[in-house]
Amino acid sequence: MRGVIVLGIETTCDETAAAVVADDRSVRANLVFSQLAEHAPYGGVVPEVAARAHLDRLDGLIEDAMAEAALGFAELDGVAVSAGPGLIGGLLVGLMTAKAIALAHRTPLLAVNHLEGHALSVRLSEDLQFPYVLLLVTGGHCQLLIVRGVAEYRRLGTTLDDAVGEAFDKAAKMLGLGYPGGPAIERAAQSGDATRFPLPRPLKGRAGCHFSFSGLKTAVRRAVETLPGGAPGAAEVADLAASFQAAVGDVLCDRTANALAVFREEAPGARRLVVAGGVAANAYLRTRLSELADTYGFDLIAPPAALCTDNAAMIAWAGIERLGLGLRDELSCPARARWPLDADAPPAPGAGVKA
Ligand code: KG4
Ligand code: ZN
Repeated sequence: MRGVIVLGIETTCDETAAAVVADDRSVRANLVFSQLAEHAPYGGVVPEVAARAHLDRLDGLIEDAMAEAALGFAELDGVAVSAGPGLIGGLLVGLMTAKAIALAHRTPLLAVNHLEGHALSVRLSEDLQFPYVLLLVTGGHCQLLIVRGVAEYRRLGTTLDDAVGEAFDKAAKMLGLGYPGGPAIERAAQSGDATRFPLPRPLKGRAGCHFSFSGLKTAVRRAVETLPGGAPGAAEVADLAASFQAAVGDVLCDRTANALAVFREEAPGARRLVVAGGVAANAYLRTRLSELADTYGFDLIAPPAALCTDNAAMIAWAGIERLGLGLRDELSCPARARWPLDADAPPAPGAGVKA
């Protein structure tokens, strides 16, 4: 018997993506068009440029994904789209396209939270049971959550300032490396000495599961400014990249250890730690987290790198999970620039909010 097949659409930031996924975990098509070239002249993502690029590309990408999956729209069991959080212009392009397909082909619409896509991506790559601890590390977010089930999230901690991917991107810019900064820093760090620059480890050793990265970013800037000549040579770039990456690794492990302790109280038998989101593509950080998991008797599970960075397969998969629970959305559902996974989480101190 043919299973459930869903088209996924992703336009939250600077990747236009379309994918076709089946409930037996087969990915029939997974296309990602990166808008890097469009944004490169500006040194970062420009929301208006992103929205226009999504508009130019999305229709063709969906057609290509459907052709690769050898499917007609009438054969779909649903269309899943990231309805937030993200840049509103891009979200509207994706959501309106998904609504049009759902309406024209009388197929269910699934308005997926992009973060839920990341949170469940590991269940697309393997048969993993709930609950698990999730370290969600992207360009816009850095959170520790307990994933109890689809649409059931408890946020243990979040960043008080910058997201970890953002810190990678900004540090890379200061070092004259390209955008996105994560892969560039990872590459440069391979030949670097991680002990050369003593960078801070914000919040390390403190109670709780929150993060902070702005002090680390400032420390990288100061280190660059105090170099002779005020600009790093190749060796300094490698050493600073390695020192930065090691500091991030220390902080992520320290905060995650606190989350594992909380999780052990809640679900003593379930020793699963998942890392997902673009930064989870980093092999060095995966190794560090895997060592941490070992120490605590946990298994570290991470999706393959192509499912860590933004893609539409994870959105289609989240749609399949929601459809399986009988969930679907109205054609009137809105795009949401802000959309927390755990709406009941206590507000994090920082950004002008008192602890
Ligand atoms: O999940 P994602 O593709 O998009 C968001 O939802 O934000 O994450 C993008 C972030 C960027 O900041 C990028 O620099 C970072 O993920 N990233 C990495 C690596 N690959 C991507 N960070 C560290 N190491 C990597 N290999
Ligand atoms: Zn993402």
